Amino acid sequence: MSAVFPVSPLSESVPESDVPSGKHLPHVRFLDRTVEVRPDETALDALLRGGVDVAFSCRGGVCHACLMHCREGTVPGDAQRGLSDHLKERKYLLACQCRPTSTLVLERPLPRDLRTTCVLTQVEGQGSPVLKLHFEPMRTLLYRTGQHLRLLTGGPDEPVLRLTSRPDDEWVLEAELDCPTGEPPVAWLRGDVPFGHEFEVWGPVEPDVVAGATDPCVASCHQVAGEPAGDVAAVTQGERPVHTELDAPRPDPGLWRELDEGRTVRRVLEDFYAQVYADDRLASFFEGVTMERAIGKQYSFLQEMLTGEKVYFGERPRNSHHWMVISDELLNYRQALMVATLEKHGLSPEQIARWTRVEEHWRRDLVKSAPWPRKIGEFEFPLHGFAKEVLSEGSMCDHCGSEVPSGTEVLYHLRLGTISCAACAPAVGRDTAQG
Ligand code: HEM
Ligand code: FES
Repeated sequence: MSAVFPVSPLSESVPESDVPSGKHLPHVRFLDRTVEVRPDETALDALLRGGVDVAFSCRGGVCHACLMHCREGTVPGDAQRGLSDHLKERKYLLACQCRPTSTLVLERPLPRDLRTTCVLTQVEGQGSPVLKLHFEPMRTLLYRTGQHLRLLTGGPDEPVLRLTSRPDDEWVLEAELDCPTGEPPVAWLRGDVPFGHEFEVWGPVEPDVVAGATDPCVASCHQVAGEPAGDVAAVTQGERPVHTELDAPRPDPGLWRELDEGRTVRRVLEDFYAQVYADDRLASFFEGVTMERAIGKQYSFLQEMLTGEKVYFGERPRNSHHWMVISDELLNYRQALMVATLEKHGLSPEQIARWTRVEEHWRRDLVKSAPWPRKIGEFEFPLHGFAKEVLSEGSMCDHCGSEVPSGTEVLYHLRLGTISCAACAPAVGRDTAQG
């Protein structure tokens, strides 16, 4: 797609209901839109081609941003790869991995089904009416101080944890748990502190949501009502915490010199990105980015970080990775690949630690459980959605490859920059589900 044109949010003006063609092809319905799924498409591809605003990030089955609940239809087995048994049983699927064999009716995840496993690290105040729990969530939880988590026990009165930590300050969360009689409401908190004990929570939500609903489903229905299509995590996890961009780490010009004034850095990056582009878990993030660009940007970024010279003219990691749902685990995986590459190129353990220190500095700007908008100053750029645009010069449809002459109206995906021609986009209908 080569055309350049200004974009404006489309909101409600996606072409309505041309009746889906191809009677023999399955359809996928999400919210109130129905799209025919072409033989080479996933459910996510079809929805995006049709201008349906759905959450996604890696498109490789890694980040789970495209997790959806299947209300009707048969879930293809591959679409559930990597999901917990809990979600599989409840007919969840990853839209980016789903090649429907029959018509599917999909919906956003039901908040009551989304749980987070946490690991207990410390307990304070045993015997007192309020216990303080310190614990690490197994995925980044976006929360605000004062929000509540429901401790999932399977019992009728599941206790509530009040979050007291500050999202920007702490990796390990802190929360209070009421024990009016001095006796903890869950058995595993009685007696010796079970350091490393795993437990599940639901939330975070505003205090009144947990307090007012004994069934999380009730709470979730209130919370989600009227929400626009958007990221799952934002729906289930409340507002994003205020997050300021990090400053650069201290330069280490000695390391740059030791790495042959950057020549070893370039060799390492060429080798590293060759592996990244061939890697099942990482490659999909780089779709549409040439390897030369990735290497070049990373090289000048590292040069600036190590030498302190202003040679990098790209965005800071928080913005350049704004849409990428990267878990701690995925970042560790990338880190292990980098360390192995550095070893291969003869760096000493001490040099590897200094290199890793620079990359590790940015962890908090990279790891997240939902995309966040690109932000410059106070201005946030749109994260999701489509615009209807008239091409100022001829281009090609990114879905069927046909030529689109200048002056034609197309559907433009704000983040991907892809266009759907008239023949591809109108395969969308409202309330025309076949299944
Ligand atoms: C799993 C981890 C990571 C993934 C999946 C990832 C992915 C990507 C992708 C796809 C791009 C290209 C963006 C574009 O050109 O539009 C990129 C650019 C970049 N990444 Fe990462 N990255 C990861 C970790 C890191 C780390 C740890 C650092 C810090 C050293 C980093 C620094 C950068 C920089 C400086 C750019 C260039 C930004 C720009 O073009 O303005 N990335 N990354
Ligand atoms: S798992 Fe589907 S977009 Fe990442």
